[in-house]
Amino acid sequence: MKIKALVAGNWKMNGLKASAKEVKALARLIAKSPKKARCDVLICPPATLVSTLKEAAKGSKIAIGGQDCHANASGAHTGDISAEMLKDAGATYVIVGHSERRADHGETSEMVNAKTQAVHRAGLIAIVCVGETEAQRDAGETLTVIREQLAGSLPKGITAKNTIVAYEPVWAIGTGRTPTADDVAKVHAAIRAVLKKRFKSEGEAMRLLYGGSVKASNAVELMGVPNVNGALVGGASLKAADFDGIIAAYR
Ligand code: PGA
Repeated sequence: MKIKALVAGNWKMNGLKASAKEVKALARLIAKSPKKARCDVLICPPATLVSTLKEAAKGSKIAIGGQDCHANASGAHTGDISAEMLKDAGATYVIVGHSERRADHGETSEMVNAKTQAVHRAGLIAIVCVGETEAQRDAGETLTVIREQLAGSLPKGITAKNTIVAYEPVWAIGTGRTPTADDVAKVHAAIRAVLKKRFKSEGEAMRLLYGGSVKASNAVELMGVPNVNGALVGGASLKAADFDGIIAAYR
């Protein structure tokens, strides 16, 4: 099955209004490349920049997304932002369950499940993150942890159109370390098997992203792994040239 890849940037807590120039530069790099990239491109900035970057991306193929949302559409939740608000600001995707949210904000798979449903309620695409810690990997628990996170985080009835799964080993995020292509292949095959069993043809067509220290120099190898349908990129998404170097894996 041919699945259209997605190269997604997660800016995390980085970026000011001036960073819109990186999106404009990226749009120019994509437009001037003689070879069209066979992937969708997404940038998920802090919520404060969603509308600014949406404007900066106008006329390009770059989509804009959020990094998290509250499970409710509105209400007395000081400091929180709903999927509906992100949509209103111009987002078409929302990342949920990133390991930094799971670790820093105590987000459980049950909460991630509710957030995923919120993303769908707003008519947006959810990027649901899963991944094991180094201790879990060393204990040989990687696949058990991933299966538990998938079972808990993914609501029933999801489709290949409204949901993307991102596998991000926690120990590979921001460290410059990556699993081997073989290790990624094993985990992605296991994720695909879980999705197929539970969501049938939708699970077969769902995009699976790899994330964790993806950069231009390893993108071709990692994006070539079976069942890897794109990347979720942190550090290397902040500069247009670096991010374009990853998109180039699909040219
Ligand atoms: P990194 O982050 O590319 O900086 O490792 C990936 C992520 O956390 O999404």
